[in-house]
Amino acid sequence: MKCYVLGLLLTVLGTSLAASDPLMVGGSYSTTDNIKRIFKDRDGNFDKIRHPTTGAKARADMLTFIQNKVEMLQLLAKQKGFHAANYTQQFTTDIQVSYDHKTVNGTNVILVLHGTANNTEDEPVMLLANYDTARNTNAVNEGSGVVALLTLFESLVQDLPAKNFELKSSVIFAFTDVAHKKYDEETGTPRGETGAHKLGSEWLRIFMSDRKHFRGAVVLDNLLNYNSTGRSQLVQDTGIDKSFSTSYTKLAENAFSGDFVALVHRNDDMDNPLANAIEEAWNRSSHHHKDKTGGQQDSNSTQLDAKLLRFTFNKNMFVSPSVNHFLNSEQSALWNEHASIGQTQYPAITLTDTRNLRAGCRQMCNVSAMLTDENLQFMARTVKTLKHFIIQNQTVDSGAFSSLQSSVIFLVGSAIFAIYNGRY
Ligand SMILES: *[C@@H]1O[C@H](CO)[C@@H](O)[C@H](O)[C@H]1NC(C)=O
Ligand SMILES: *[C@@H]1O[C@H](CO)[C@@H](O)[C@H](O)[C@H]1NC(C)=O
Ligand SMILES: *[C@@H]1O[C@H](CO)[C@@H](O)[C@H](O)[C@H]1NC(C)=O
Ligand SMILES: *[C@@H]1O[C@H](CO)[C@@H](O)[C@H](O)[C@H]1NC(C)=O
Ligand SMILES: *[C@@H]1O[C@H](CO)[C@@H](O)[C@H](O)[C@H]1NC(C)=O
Ligand SMILES: *[C@@H]1O[C@H](CO)[C@@H](O)[C@H](O)[C@H]1NC(C)=O
Ligand SMILES: *[C@@H]1O[C@H](CO)[C@@H](O)[C@H](O)[C@H]1NC(C)=O
Ligand SMILES: *[C@@H]1O[C@H](CO)[C@@H](O)[C@H](O)[C@H]1NC(C)=O
Repeated sequence: MKCYVLGLLLTVLGTSLAASDPLMVGGSYSTTDNIKRIFKDRDGNFDKIRHPTTGAKARADMLTFIQNKVEMLQLLAKQKGFHAANYTQQFTTDIQVSYDHKTVNGTNVILVLHGTANNTEDEPVMLLANYDTARNTNAVNEGSGVVALLTLFESLVQDLPAKNFELKSSVIFAFTDVAHKKYDEETGTPRGETGAHKLGSEWLRIFMSDRKHFRGAVVLDNLLNYNSTGRSQLVQDTGIDKSFSTSYTKLAENAFSGDFVALVHRNDDMDNPLANAIEEAWNRSSHHHKDKTGGQQDSNSTQLDAKLLRFTFNKNMFVSPSVNHFLNSEQSALWNEHASIGQTQYPAITLTDTRNLRAGCRQMCNVSAMLTDENLQFMARTVKTLKHFIIQNQTVDSGAFSSLQSSVIFLVGSAIFAIYNGRY
């Protein structure tokens, strides 16, 4: 009798714990549909060149689009009980156009979803994407990072309160300008100050001055191009085999398919914890994973088997064009590799489909035509990964905790009752 009652109670406890699975994320809508909706909201603009000189009008339009979205999202966040604040950072910098230098004005837009922790306890993460493009192509700058940030913000403010997650540490969403600028002809590395340099060396430095610890930045740089055909990942003449030999071996084993997201990071104490946390979140966001992601299924229920592949920068590595390819300007600005903008270095990693190293549209792309089920699911996986990461690292699980507490109190109380009954 005693054992039977205890067994029953343990079953009840087990069921109530399973029901309060802290990793249950998702929502009552599909991520792919939301991504598609936000791309369509800015009908056609993602197709255009948005360079500060040759695409000034489209770039200004994109800025207005982002500002409108930011205002809308800020309002939504407030309705859901969050403290959200926006900042506009204006700056002037030099870019190289052909062989000339031009001075341009840039605008970074920053939206902060504040955590409930006091500043002294706040450990923010920053997610950033640039919204301008290169000078004569949109192909490698289609704007998916911007859409990922907008989708993720909306999804977080809808779902966190509904699922009883309390955002403890802040999440910074940064839309940066002037990513493409002057390059050092010898080494191909960016020189001087991009929008991300300005963000890191000025805005972030001030924001972090009275906060506890910066967990790091995740740069989103092209997330839409998935290609599972063999040899769609271009490696010839890049030197990837020498620079990133472990990744190269994995690529070869996988017939050089472009079916993965690249995670670019330094092999050091700054980037490794962030890279590991993101990889863990990627694994948890898989539909194979035991933790139910919950929410509505995406409209196409056959889910992609996308992979995450690490491109690790080691000290004294073989220098080749592939090294420069994976050093995008946002990330190197935060790494502050050239120590040109002060002393601060931040943890920073990049998630990317590798841009023009992946077969697909290479020049002017029709972004609408790129919004296939496969590509949308591929991009949704990155959005879900970031959501898992934020839930794991930035929230406290108030709802599940109180239901765990009440289950334990119930179990203990009932067990005492059962033992008491058994004895007498
Ligand atoms: C940001 O907040 C200010 C008020 O602090 C507001 O005037 C502005 O329109 C907001 N939006 C953007 C995109 O900057
Ligand atoms: C940059 O902005 C300043 C005013 O803030 C203006 O005087 C200048 O003409 C602008 N430069 C360009 C290239 O638009
Ligand atoms: C945060 O700061 C306020 C005022 O400084 C204080 O009253 C409160 O207890 C602090 N909260 C935490 C969680 O430390
Ligand atoms: C994220 O959280 C995990 C444990 O929840 C922790 O081990 C890790 O250090 C955190 N990562 C970062 C970058 O803060
Ligand atoms: C993620 O999954 C892969 C493949 O199952 C595994 O090799 C890797 O160790 C996992 N990474 C983390 C951080 O859990
Ligand atoms: C995928 O890669 C193959 C092989 O390189 C290429 O022929 C094809 O056009 C690519 N598909 C798309 C949709 O870009
Ligand atoms: C872009 O692709 C969409 C969907 O495939 C198509 O309807 C549209 O006509 C294309 N636009 C151009 C300019 O080719
Ligand atoms: C689902 O996705 C697969 C692979 O991406 C595609 O072949 C199929 O047509 C899609 N089905 C529907 C109903 O959209």
